[in-house]
Amino acid sequence: MKARHKHIAAVALGALLIAGAAPAAGPAKPADQRAPLVLLDEERHIVLEEMRNFLAVLQTITDALTREDMKEIARAARSMGSGAANEIPPKTVAKLPEEFKVLAGGVHTTFDLMALDAESLADPKHTLTQMNELLQKCNACHGIYQIKVGKGGAVKAVR
Ligand code: HEC
Repeated sequence: MKARHKHIAAVALGALLIAGAAPAAGPAKPADQRAPLVLLDEERHIVLEEMRNFLAVLQTITDALTREDMKEIARAARSMGSGAANEIPPKTVAKLPEEFKVLAGGVHTTFDLMALDAESLADPKHTLTQMNELLQKCNACHGIYQIKVGKGGAVKAVR
């Protein structure tokens, strides 16, 4: 990085830090306003575990991309595709809103397509484009929902 660019980066970082430290204006709002999915503690655990698996597979795919190992990309993507064993029990799925299921389904079908294209096109740049689409889907859902632990939800808890 050139010295001038370093300076600009430092000023930008400083501005961000100051903005972060400034007290919030106006009346107090709940800190997290995303729609709550009310799940039992063990259900939250299952959903978050699936999330961490998503992230782990994205890391595997990124690593395979650096080696242009299209076979490994196809294998890893398929492990998260719609044909993969669904880890989330039906009782829990029943508590999730329709939109959540649509967004989650979109992630699985993008993994399906990534696996198919890695095999048929074997074009790393195309895989990277699909990775970007995938990450946009991750971000879209994260912007809408949070998980809260409780006994609410459409299905009565069995405890
Ligand atoms: C259909 C909605 C949805 C999609 C799609 C989605 N997530 Fe999530 N994810 C969530 C929710 C809800 C949480 C919990 C957020 C909270 O309570 O703050 C979460 C949490 C996570 C966490 C935190 C896990 C932990 O142990 O705390 C990771 C990592 C994560 N998601 C990765 C991903 C990745 C990577 C993708 C895309 C491949 C993805 N998610 C797609 C809804 C989604």
